[in-house]
Amino acid sequence: MVKDSSRFINACWGKPHNAVPVWFMRQAGRYQPTYRQLREHHSFLQMAHSDTVITDVTCRPVEELGVDAAILFSDIMIPMGPMGVDFDIQEHYGPVIAHPIRSGQDVKHIKPLRPEKSLPEIFRSIEQICRRIDPVPLIGFAGAPFTLASYLIEGGPSKTYTETKKMMWEQPDLWKELMKRLADGVISHLSAQIRHGVQAVQIFDSWIGTLGVEDFEYAVLPTMQEIFSELNALQVPTIYFGTDNLALLPLIKQSGARVLSLDWRVSLAEVRKELGSQVALQGNLDPVVLLSSWEVLARKARRVLEDMAGDPAYVFNLGHGVPPGTNPELLKRLVDLVHDYAPATGSGMEI
Ligand code: CP3
Repeated sequence: MVKDSSRFINACWGKPHNAVPVWFMRQAGRYQPTYRQLREHHSFLQMAHSDTVITDVTCRPVEELGVDAAILFSDIMIPMGPMGVDFDIQEHYGPVIAHPIRSGQDVKHIKPLRPEKSLPEIFRSIEQICRRIDPVPLIGFAGAPFTLASYLIEGGPSKTYTETKKMMWEQPDLWKELMKRLADGVISHLSAQIRHGVQAVQIFDSWIGTLGVEDFEYAVLPTMQEIFSELNALQVPTIYFGTDNLALLPLIKQSGARVLSLDWRVSLAEVRKELGSQVALQGNLDPVVLLSSWEVLARKARRVLEDMAGDPAYVFNLGHGVPPGTNPELLKRLVDLVHDYAPATGSGMEI
């Protein structure tokens, strides 16, 4: 089969292509021996601020696994530093904020982001990566305001999001102000990434599923609509990722994202029926399957592919990130299984 380097972008737009495109969230990370070696000598944050490391770690999955897109090696928290938030990222735990944001004063301290000025290493890397993997596309990303706010307000990972919800309900004006500042940061960061060469952008709203429908509609959706309307004007595919968000999907569809990235709790075939063909879908293999045998993995992956068989607006991915204990060989076999599965459309094929 001819390698079609634009199959990921074509699938995002629902255009014909010659095989189902595949990439993985956290395709660069601790499951790779080379990544673990680098981590022995550097902290995650040191790595995420070094242009040579960013470039190398981002490109490797394309070179080693044959995935159809790279995703920038960085973190949703990185732009928070120049926006005035002091944080660290603790291994096996996540982001920890030195001074959680709770008051009007705290929110006022969140500064506008001038991405090229404060994070020049990221934009140098984007240019290096695009040259190195050309014509394979690079995906840029940012955290969504809600998921970022949940870390900033709680001070770290949370199960209940109590302080976040309290601010949303008890101080709606403060919440709006925080959403606005974060949304402006997301828009400037992603616009700059696009100017420097990324060919698609994904917004990570990992924890949005904690919200009820009404709260999402009033406290988050308008912000997401503003972000996607700004980004869609830049003519690259926009992807909105969330987990545990089945009840929110009809509203999430109204966000304006071109592609919805979903987790394993939903049936993609059902979602397609429910939402129609106006959006592309991405997902949704349960990442824990990567820790099982090849037989189980292959069966579960084929099940996902069957759900979306023949649908041109579909990108194979996991429902969340690659787990650290994954065997890289299995991941490589999974990429081949997806590519060999079946043509994505009945027309426009180059076999
Ligand atoms: O997907 C990719 O390959 C691109 C790189 C990427 C990372 N983080 C690298 C990373 C992306 C897109 C993210 C996004 C991110 N970061 C999200 C949204 C996606 C998701 O996973 O839900 C969230 C919630 C974060 C916050 C964060 N950063 C967490 C929860 C952790 C994991 C803590 C741990 O040790 O398990 C991080 C750290 C992080 N970000 C790692 C990587 C490769 C592991 C760091 C290490 O080397 O120790």
